[in-house]
Amino acid sequence: MGDMGEKLQIAVLGAGNVGGALGRIWLSKGHKVTFGVPDPQKTNRKTGNAEVTTNKDASADADVVVLSVPWPAAHEAIRNSGDVTNKVLIDCTNPLAPDLSGLVIGGTTSAAEMVATWAPGARVIKAFNTIGAANYGNAQFGLQRADGFYCGDDQQAKNVAKQLIEDVGLDPVDVGPLKNARLLEPLAMLWIDLAVNQGQGTNHGFKLLRR
Ligand SMILES: NC(=O)c1ccc[n+]([C@@H]2O[C@H](COP(=O)([O-])OP(=O)(O)OC[C@H]3O[C@@H](n4cnc5c(N)ncnc54)[C@H](OP(=O)(O)O)[C@@H]3O)[C@@H](O)[C@H]2O)c1
Repeated sequence: MGDMGEKLQIAVLGAGNVGGALGRIWLSKGHKVTFGVPDPQKTNRKTGNAEVTTNKDASADADVVVLSVPWPAAHEAIRNSGDVTNKVLIDCTNPLAPDLSGLVIGGTTSAAEMVATWAPGARVIKAFNTIGAANYGNAQFGLQRADGFYCGDDQQAKNVAKQLIEDVGLDPVDVGPLKNARLLEPLAMLWIDLAVNQGQGTNHGFKLLRR
């Protein structure tokens, strides 16, 4: 797993702004996508032709499990997905205060590290959290592409994440070990504060400049 262009079986937990957009793009790139949601019978989700089922059924045969649920639902979503040992688990969540005034955890831990404790044996990656979902598949800003920052402790899982980040049109930027989610989650909070609290909308993204 992790070879360039390889088609993956992906369980997307949550079919909202993030999961719906990522799942639809990955489907269009030829990956097999199955959504896991609390009530698979509920309609009106934008899930394309993908199967919509329980977290457990979606995750059972998946190479990659993507956590795209509101932070308060994250622990339950993982608990409901069965044994995810050795799977790549991509955490997209941000542990937001309900009024978007800030993060409810951080500094000495992160959502991604908590996810890792809830899913022992999974190869956890933090990704897709530092830019609004409206920019997935739409991340070109003039001549520049917004970055898709990611971190994790398993190199093969990082190779998989890199491919999936490229698939949604972001420039992948590896920022190191999983504990650097402590830095990516506040960066996401800055994106959200600009977008929502400061009323600037969703047309911005971060880019790491190098020379
Ligand atoms: N929105 C963004 O632009 C953005 C960008 C980056 C990161 N994030 C983060 O990504 C996560 C998802 O955000 P979102 O905007 O996509 O949220 P959303 O639009 O509210 O969608 C959440 C989805 O999660 C589902 N869900 C709830 N509990 C679940 C469970 N236990 N198992 C499986 N699915 C469950 C919901 O299903 P029902 O509809 O049936 O309840 C819904 O499909 C959040 O942590 C957010 O902070 C958001």
